[in-house]
Parts: sequence; structure tokens; C-alpha cells
Amino acid sequence: MRYIGNKTRLLPFILETVTALGIGPGAAHDACAGTAVVGRELKAAGWRVASSDIMTYSYVFQRAYVVSQRVPSFADLRAGDPDVRRAMRSPRFREAVTRRGPGALSLVCEYLVRWLEPERGFIAAHYAPAGGRMYFTDENAMRIDAIRARLHAWHSEGLIGDDAFYVLLAALIEAADRVANTAGVYAAYIKSWQPNARRALDLEPRPPVRGARGSTAHLADAQLVASQLGPIELLYIDPPYNSRQYAGYYHIPEIIARGWFETTPAIRGKTGLVRDATGSTRSAWCSSKGAERALRDLVAATGARHVLVSYNSEGLLGETVLQRVLCDASVDGRSRRFVRDYRRYRADSDHAKRRYRVDALRELLYHAKLR
Ligand SMILES: C[S@@+](CC[C@H](N)C(=O)[O-])C[C@H]1O[C@@H](n2cnc3c(N)ncnc32)[C@H](O)[C@@H]1O
Repeated sequence: MRYIGNKTRLLPFILETVTALGIGPGAAHDACAGTAVVGRELKAAGWRVASSDIMTYSYVFQRAYVVSQRVPSFADLRAGDPDVRRAMRSPRFREAVTRRGPGALSLVCEYLVRWLEPERGFIAAHYAPAGGRMYFTDENAMRIDAIRARLHAWHSEGLIGDDAFYVLLAALIEAADRVANTAGVYAAYIKSWQPNARRALDLEPRPPVRGARGSTAHLADAQLVASQLGPIELLYIDPPYNSRQYAGYYHIPEIIARGWFETTPAIRGKTGLVRDATGSTRSAWCSSKGAERALRDLVAATGARHVLVSYNSEGLLGETVLQRVLCDASVDGRSRRFVRDYRRYRADSDHAKRRYRVDALRELLYHAKLR
């Protein structure tokens, strides 16, 4: 998914650094998990991962990519859902729900995308032209609503288990992002339809990664989770590095993740933001003072032997402050810095013929030995 700070391209750098430092594999905490790609990669490399984030869509990714171990079974769907029973007349679909494996997963996705009647729900009512906004075409919005409602029904009726639910929901959030009419974040929609937004929604599920058992997902503040994990090998921190709150930039993935079937949230403003009455999605990391405090508290709370912090050269925390916090916490008063230069492509305008600016950025990885 397009996500500020997504580390997909930097995974080799992170894993190479872990290996070069001679750390693990063992137990790791991916404290600010986001899309969960780092936890997924660590798990594939033999780590047992606890991951955490304050956003619900991240919890969905953590469950799908870090916790779940194998492609779920869809056997219970056969008996339970009348529409599915009808679809069973298709030999292809019958095969999906009677067999296991990645093939079954993609055939269930095919069912959700092609056989399900689109329906008008919360997304179509507020984030498509019928609701006065242009995040999705009406057709795609109604497909998202229909799939989201069906996943909720299947899960709450016990026709699919937790793994199947989160793997499919993660695929839906990623699919919606591919057809979202935005420049990458949901803080604004583009006033004319972009080519990606005109494409029909399609689910491309990622099969779960097999690894050590016991990886866990947490919808919670990083510090709270760190204090509960006990002794571990590695704490990996990839916090927000500027003042943009993720809750405001990714409110639509959050709505799809939460579903809100019991109560309908009130929305406001041009972009249809949902009010966060609890304040639980506001991050202290999004101000320079708050970030310094949050880093200090997190490294104090963890039982990890090593900490690695990913940080961006444009970040709120200056290099001196960051190094000072890590040196203060480290067992030998030292912290090391690893650097990788990379290029970022940024949309310059919201036009159909978008121009891109290329920025040279430095991704910084700081290490300290804590005990
Ligand atoms: C730079 S992103 C992480 C990106 C992630 N490594 C990836 O590759 O997708 C920062 C993440 O920190 C999360 N976050 C912000 N404050 C947090 C907190 N107090 N505890 C846990 N996660 C937090 C945000 O929701 C966001 O997903």
C-alpha cells in the first residue's frame, strides 16, 4: 500500500544491518508497524515478532502478514452462505472452497469481486460522487461496501476464522488503495479521475508467511506493548517523522478496517474525517518535543537487548537529539549510525498529467545496545 514511511524498498538495508550487527534471530518488537512489511520480513527470516501500531488498518495488516501462518480454509463457507452455495455450481468456485492453498484464496477473492452484488454502504454514501466526494468511483465504492459487509457477516457467523478474515480484509484495504483517486494519502482527493481510479477494484491477496509460531499483533501504543513483552532481542522503531498525523492521512483505510457496523460514525469536512473521540489515534511522535519524550520512554520501557531506529533525514528529531537519547540509554554510552541514500518520486501537481519531482533522501538507521 502507498504509505508514508513504508519500508518495502529498504528491507534489504534493514535486514543487512541486523545481520552485520550479529543480532538474532530471536524475539523482536516492530513497534510502529504501519503496513507490517518489516515484521513480515523479520518473520520470514526466522524471527518471532510482536508488532504494534495505534491504527486499526495496521492491526489488520499485522494479523494478515505477521500472525497468520498458512492459507486459511474456506470449508465452512460451503454450508453457511446461500450465495456461496449458488456459486458452488461453478466447478472453479467449488474447487476454491473444498481445497486449501493459495489457489483457494484467490478464487474466494474472485467470488467477492465478481459474483457479489455491489451495494450502497458507508463508503459509497460518503466517499464517492453520490456522497459529494471523489475518492472512489460509485462502482468501486459499492464494491468495497459489499465486500466489507460480506466479510463481516462471514466472520461474525463463524463461516470464516480470524486468519481468513484478516487476510481478506487486508487484501480489500490494499485493493481500495490501488483505486483511490488520491496522490497517495487520503488528506485530499483529486478533482478529476486518475487512470488508477477508473480501473475496477480487484483483490490480490498475499499468502501468509510461514515462520516461528507465537508472533502477535497489538492495536496499542508502542510503549505500552514494549513494557509488557519482557526480555527480547530486538526493538525496531520506525516512528512518524513529521507533524502529519496518520489518522488524518489514512482515515478511509481506517474506516474500511473498523467497519463500524454497530454505530455509524459522524464525519466532517471536505475529506469526510471521522472524529476520534478517544484521541487514541493521535501520536506524540508528530511534534519534536513529543517525539523526544516518546523515544526516551519507549527505550526505557523495552526489555530489548538491541534497539534499531529508522529515521528520515528530514525528520522532526534532529540527529544530535536522537543520538543523545540513544547514547543515554545504551549500555556502553554509544550509538552507531547506518546510512542508505535513496530516491523518492513525489507528485508535484494534482493534474491528470502529473509531473514528478525526484528528491534525494537519506534513510538513517541508528543502533544502540541496551543491555
Ligand atoms: C513511518 S510509519 C511506519 C511504517 C512501517 N515501518 C512500514 O514499513 O509500513 C509510522 C507508524 O507509526 C504509527 N504510530 C504512531 N504513533 C504510534 C505509537 N504511539 N505507538 C505505535 N505506533 C504508532 C503510525 O500509525 C504509523 O503507522
